[in-house]
Amino acid sequence: MSTLLVDDIGELVTNDGTDGPLGIRRDAALLVEGGRVAWVGSAADAPAADRRIDAGGAAVLPGFVDSHAHLVFAGDRAAEFAARMAGQAYTGGGIRTTVGATRAASDAQLRATVGRLRDEALRQGTTTIEIKSGYGLTVADEARSLRIAAESTTETTFLGAHVVPAEYADRPDDYVELVCGPMVRAAAPYARWIDVFCERGAFDADQARAVLTSGQALGLGVRVHANQLGPGPGVRLGVEAGAASVDHCTHLDDADVDALAGTAGPDGSGTTTVATLLPGAEFSTRSPYPDARRLIDAGVTVALATDCNPGSSYTSSMAFCIALAVREMGMTPAEAVWAATAGGARALRRDDVGRLRVGSRADLVILDAPSHLHLAYRPGVPLIRKVLHDGVPR
Ligand code: NIG
Ligand code: FE
Repeated sequence: MSTLLVDDIGELVTNDGTDGPLGIRRDAALLVEGGRVAWVGSAADAPAADRRIDAGGAAVLPGFVDSHAHLVFAGDRAAEFAARMAGQAYTGGGIRTTVGATRAASDAQLRATVGRLRDEALRQGTTTIEIKSGYGLTVADEARSLRIAAESTTETTFLGAHVVPAEYADRPDDYVELVCGPMVRAAAPYARWIDVFCERGAFDADQARAVLTSGQALGLGVRVHANQLGPGPGVRLGVEAGAASVDHCTHLDDADVDALAGTAGPDGSGTTTVATLLPGAEFSTRSPYPDARRLIDAGVTVALATDCNPGSSYTSSMAFCIALAVREMGMTPAEAVWAATAGGARALRRDDVGRLRVGSRADLVILDAPSHLHLAYRPGVPLIRKVLHDGVPR
């Protein structure tokens, strides 16, 4: 098997749990073989290899793990964004606009959008991405959304319970029955996870519990859209259901934070419920940001993700989310970089990505900068010089 040496790394972020949260090594090198990290050490001791990439003293990080994205859709909602920036509030009501456009789109159109956004994310350093359905909301449209998502990632999530579609507006419980029966059965072959938007105006606690239980019965793991637009039962429901992650967490009370902190296990624990924060949504809906500092100080595991979707957060940039988290949410640059890599992996219950140690997937980014600090320090600047995905330069 051919080998590739990434050499002359000024700062290597390993997230290996030693030497601080990022496990930083200086003047390092890393050997890739068969798509995995085969060796990590000092550049002075680097082994011979078939090929060599010279990082030129720059920083190297694990590829970003974006654990929350809605890429299967048609159309955009730029006008809705403009209206918000002129003072209108975000309610989630625009989801139905995207549902109409998505149902009307061909498979080829949806596939092209997913491919375009996945490539856009990869160019910006995202090497693992979760993709949700949720803009089809019929049995056939949810199944095809997931079939198309599964062509791009193994981290696929069934979100049939995104909102109640217009045709069920006066009988929401019938829609929940559809989601929990024929829809989840059609979706499950293409999905790893099930998700529900537990929020006033979407699904209440009983409905959300029924949805999650139906997915668990078919072997799907649980994640929840929780406490985005206001306080509510979503976070505690997710914790009770053993969710890998509860996402948004913008409006939390002490009981929510305690519930999350109570799940925090030792490093690598499989039962922790991660709080995944999505600052692109607060940016784009002009809402108050979640309080990451409070969560971290309470011992909660925090991840950062983009929430990339045409309504509330049309960004695929994890670097932008890191910068927002540092500037607006009380995170240190190191905490934000960890949350965008190892934290995202934890939110997907993965231990093969988000770290660079022997055996990890060789998913990494070489920055056009000497340190991870620059991701927040130089916001909006394209700092991703090179991306390796499965050990292959992209
Ligand atoms: O995560 N909160 C629900 N779903 C998306 C928004 C979807 C939309 O507005 O189209 C979110 O922010
Ligand atoms: Fe979302």
